[in-house]
Amino acid sequence: MKLLIINGPNLNFLGIREKSIYGAEGYETLVERLKQKAKQDGIDLEVYQDNSEGAIIDRIQQAYFEEVDGIIINPGAYAHYSIAIRDALASVDIPKIEVHISNVYKREEFRHTSVITPVCTGEILGLGVQGYFLAMDAMKEYVK
Ligand code: DQA
Repeated sequence: MKLLIINGPNLNFLGIREKSIYGAEGYETLVERLKQKAKQDGIDLEVYQDNSEGAIIDRIQQAYFEEVDGIIINPGAYAHYSIAIRDALASVDIPKIEVHISNVYKREEFRHTSVITPVCTGEILGLGVQGYFLAMDAMKEYVK
């Protein structure tokens, strides 16, 4: 299985930004752990991060040509307003799981809406970075 994890803006600052919300683990350490799990599970994994909307859209379109089997995406703040990322996700017939580290529904009201969720297969949120690992397991089952 070919799996792509996309992380949006500011997620490269895990371990630096608002640790009480996002945890103390650094981004690079998290990526390493995800890659280790992928290796154990026989998954061909790429973990991609970018802070800009256009680059994320380009990466989603590239996933179509690469025949990726599943996309796990934490769009960061773009979840709440990027119709362009939503359209890119809707364009590709690939299972998608949206992940949020924090429980966005317990936070500011502007985080309660995701324009991305309606075009995703499923969503995992509020379980910390563990959500990425759960999403990998869920995707593995889903694409079987
Ligand atoms: C986030 C939640 C978003 O509201 C926020 O803008 C982020 C991270 C999360 O993982 O909890 O950057 O997507």
